[in-house]
Amino acid sequence: MDTLRFWLALALQLTVSRSQYRYGPAKSWDLHSISELKSKEFWFHDAQRTLYEKLSTPPNQYRAKNVIFFLGDGMSVPTVTAGRIFDGQLRGVVGERNRLEFEKFNYVGLSKTYCVNKQVADSACTASAYLSGIKANYLTIGVTPDVELNDCAGARLAKNRLSSIAAWALKGGKSAGLVTTTRVTHASPAGVYAHTSNRDFESDYDVSKLGQNPGGCPDIATQLIDGEVGQRLRVVMGGGTIKFLPNTTTDVYGNKGQRLDGRNLIDEWQQSKPGNARVIFNRTDLLSNDPQTTDFLFGLFNASHLAYHLDDSLDTPTLAEMTEAALNVLSRDPAGYFLFVEGGRIDHAHHETKAKKALDETVQFSEAIRKARELTNPWETLIVVSADHGHTVSISGYPDVNNSIVGLNTELSNVDQLPYTAISYANGPNYQKFYQVNDGEVERVDLRTLDFADRNAIYPHGVPMTEETHGGGDVAVYAHGPWSHLFTGVYEQSSLPYMMGFASCLGPGITYCDLKPKAHYTP
Ligand SMILES: *[C@@H]1O[C@H](CO)[C@@H](O)[C@H](O)[C@H]1NC(C)=O
Ligand SMILES: *[C@@H]1O[C@H](CO)[C@@H](O)[C@H](O)[C@H]1NC(C)=O
Ligand SMILES: *[C@@H]1O[C@H](CO)[C@@H](O)[C@H](O)[C@H]1NC(C)=O
Ligand SMILES: *[C@@H]1O[C@H](CO)[C@@H](O)[C@H](O)[C@H]1NC(C)=O
Ligand SMILES: [Zn+2]
Repeated sequence: MDTLRFWLALALQLTVSRSQYRYGPAKSWDLHSISELKSKEFWFHDAQRTLYEKLSTPPNQYRAKNVIFFLGDGMSVPTVTAGRIFDGQLRGVVGERNRLEFEKFNYVGLSKTYCVNKQVADSACTASAYLSGIKANYLTIGVTPDVELNDCAGARLAKNRLSSIAAWALKGGKSAGLVTTTRVTHASPAGVYAHTSNRDFESDYDVSKLGQNPGGCPDIATQLIDGEVGQRLRVVMGGGTIKFLPNTTTDVYGNKGQRLDGRNLIDEWQQSKPGNARVIFNRTDLLSNDPQTTDFLFGLFNASHLAYHLDDSLDTPTLAEMTEAALNVLSRDPAGYFLFVEGGRIDHAHHETKAKKALDETVQFSEAIRKARELTNPWETLIVVSADHGHTVSISGYPDVNNSIVGLNTELSNVDQLPYTAISYANGPNYQKFYQVNDGEVERVDLRTLDFADRNAIYPHGVPMTEETHGGGDVAVYAHGPWSHLFTGVYEQSSLPYMMGFASCLGPGITYCDLKPKAHYTP
């Protein structure tokens, strides 16, 4: 059987090589002129190249030594589409044709994001799904659906605590780490190591403020330092110093700590580690970090979330820089690693309907994935890219090709004869900016009077809300590396960790090693 398959595969490869010869070597995907789109040959050859790429990629069935999960927070499918157009237009190529790094992956599926009690999810219940494999209640993290919001006692019961794929990796003798552009105690990264009945319990101050007793309700920052998984993470990078420092001290940037228990969790982290544990607070120290002498790395680059990349003053490391530093430390483990990387501010910009920032953060996220691909071997590292939930952003109207994705549409509304933007939201803040009353009639403001070139421009929306909400559409899953072909189809978000665990022989479900134990790829 295997011999037959070998000869069939060889015959296919030869045929495919001949067809590649016929259609010429794969041309760059970048298109510099929209006139090429009008050529019949262009589309035919493009399709043949796509087919060739698929036929010449056999499924990768090695055991994954490493797993990297990239989470674009709120990165809905329209966000990816608009992000690729935005990136292409900035680079001076035809944006519609452009591909973000993860759009080059061969295998894509759809993840259903609803939570146990909400049609439209938040980042907490979804983190339980994509990291621990169990859907949970809205606003809870790392606990079963038996735990309701603010049920501190329930969240402490061992039977209600979920174990994440980071815990599975540690149990399997690998290293684990996390990188994010938000506070490291924010909902998505907390899914790696915390168990809490409320995502807002980031410090003991937050727990008190929300009417609970910190003694019976361990905050998320404490769990990062003391928790079974938290204390064993080799790499932790992001923002949020104030959640770790007592209210009697200030951080290196001059912000007062928040903690009421007097603990300096940053010092505790460093003192509790075996080996060389480094704490860094700025980009310079990150870029000069020597991974060979770093056993543990804790990087905090802001009192709260990291600054948006578009607002950056060069003090803040990029997601790609943090990812590179994390991989340099983790890849020293001969047994492999699990790394969680979050582009966390795509979501924040969408909540403000600041589309340009959301798209720029999406491009930054893509750059981090490019870096990870450069630094890893696809025969031994599984890379999975997805989002936790969508947003209400849409690309609408009939803009011409090469119309600025963040600008006004090429045509007017056929009702009020006023222009509209290609990007808009179903709901959002500051509706007064877009609607006015004239002679007792509600009218749209003429968008030509607003500045859409500004990076902080907010985009129009329908329903007024204090902030734009999440969306309930499925999100895409892009996979590359060992067993990436498993990630196709439409499935529950909670299936993701078991698929990653299957490929890397980790976790409680069936794994590749149960079927046919086999060595890692050897060059
Ligand atoms: C797309 O539009 C921009 C701005 O209007 C223009 O500078 C550029 O030349 C156009 N690109 C192509 C490929 O036609
Ligand atoms: C700091 O926390 C202590 C202990 O809870 C509290 O008594 C004190 O008022 C806090 N100080 C400030 C400045 O918030
Ligand atoms: C970075 O932090 C180190 C100490 O951790 C400090 O010595 C150095 O001056 C800082 N560099 C910048 C550019 O802020
Ligand atoms: C932290 O983030 C805030 C808000 O984005 C920004 O104004 C500030 O400059 C950042 N601080 C550092 C040290 O990068
Ligand atoms: Zn959100």
